[in-house]
Amino acid sequence: MSAIVRGAQLARMLNAWQVAVGVRGPGGRRPEYVVLATAVRGLLIDGRLALGVRLPAERELAVSLGISRTTVTAAYRELRESGHLSSRRGAGSWTALPAGHRVGTSGLWTPSDDPGLIDLGCAAMPAPPELTQAAAEAVAGLDPYLGGPGYQPIGLLVLREAIAERYTERGLPTEPDQVMITGGVQQALDLLLRLLVAPGQRALVETPTYPNALSAFTAGRARVSAYAIGPDGWDEDLLLSTVRAAQARVAYLIPDFHNPTGHLMPATLRERLPSAAHAAGTDLIIDESFVDLALDSCTEAAMPPAVASFDRTARVLTIGGMSKPYWGGLRIGWVRGPAPLIARLAAARVGIDMASPVLDQLVATRLLQRRETIVNARRKQLMVQRDTLAAALRADLPDWRFVLPHGGMVLWVELDAPVSSALARSAEELGVRVAPGPRFGADGTMERFMRLPYTLPEADLVEAVRRLAAARADLDRPRRHAWSTPVVVA
Ligand SMILES: Cc1ncc(COP(=O)(O)O)c(C=O)c1O
Repeated sequence: MSAIVRGAQLARMLNAWQVAVGVRGPGGRRPEYVVLATAVRGLLIDGRLALGVRLPAERELAVSLGISRTTVTAAYRELRESGHLSSRRGAGSWTALPAGHRVGTSGLWTPSDDPGLIDLGCAAMPAPPELTQAAAEAVAGLDPYLGGPGYQPIGLLVLREAIAERYTERGLPTEPDQVMITGGVQQALDLLLRLLVAPGQRALVETPTYPNALSAFTAGRARVSAYAIGPDGWDEDLLLSTVRAAQARVAYLIPDFHNPTGHLMPATLRERLPSAAHAAGTDLIIDESFVDLALDSCTEAAMPPAVASFDRTARVLTIGGMSKPYWGGLRIGWVRGPAPLIARLAAARVGIDMASPVLDQLVATRLLQRRETIVNARRKQLMVQRDTLAAALRADLPDWRFVLPHGGMVLWVELDAPVSSALARSAEELGVRVAPGPRFGADGTMERFMRLPYTLPEADLVEAVRRLAAARADLDRPRRHAWSTPVVVA
């Protein structure tokens, strides 16, 4: 069953969108049905309305918008003609994209070796200074492991204990046998999909979302349905009704400083999600990659509880890892879930890579012992860099809009026009690499957005914005663009 948007919900989105981009404008010459069709198309292209969503019946939308049904009928016809709506007589109308629409490619991991290139494709920081000492201690502590075979599919007990303890501190009592160590959060997601989702089964994702998660769903041949996150974050009722209607096998959500929008899911929605998922037969995969990176007054103590703390029916599988607060090069992540499922995951993992490296797990354990020092330094640095990036954007590109996130590593910027892919190409020629909005759309929409991480030093961020402004100014001049290497997205 596909997701449905109700008349009142669509009316709310249309109003917000029209205010945001000024569709109504002063001219008011265009027929009302054209304005309505343009607004719906805008929602779709911007990714605020997901693909494959059933629109309200014409009569219902007319009532919600306070306009005549004839206007809605004409707008739907216009949308059908432009390929943005497909209808089946008596069944309804679903959002679509015209044939030939270019869908954003998945993120490929292609780090650049061009020293002049400022790479904003990747939201990740260099290793913390404590890593060298942690590695030396890990080598010194290797001895007790050398007498064994070194294969531990579930992961080293010391590391699982440290992770379980951290969940318990956060108010989510956890035993070490509820934790399995993986090769990064990406492998955690991949393993869960292998275990839980058969090819052809449905998976629900947010749009926009983390592109490499989309790649994992594609690799698992899941049928992906999307829930569109709005400018203010999740619309509680719409998300819950989408979960109920989609009846997906899994739903993948990033509630903590969502990548790329930066939103933090409120506690009320966290509390309601697990029971809605249970009723729909859906397991929730909750990606907590950024949970440690609360900024400003949004301190750790002020963070809403983990979604799993509201789970009464073993429906929530939490994935997390070292990459964002510590270092991506460690390739250490984990799954937290019911112990029997963790045992099944460990068994499945044997057919893939057997186990995570012992030494890397020992390094991770040592880093976690220095958690407070490392994470506090990260947060301070990220706050300064975020504010520098924001100030540079306000100065050089005043028509771009964004909401300053209270955590995480990225700004999700709304451009002055739907030109994100073209701008990314043009910017690369000027020596700055960015991930255009369509990378994050489940369906190649999001042309009006761009993700800008604030993980580089301040001087690089200022220079990157200067180059982006030059690229934006260049964009309307006729010239030939060529794709070079694909954008790094992380
Ligand atoms: C939301 C999210 N999940 C997962 C990952 C991948 O993490 P890892 O490097 O631990 O595999 C990232 C990396 O950017 C991310 O942003």
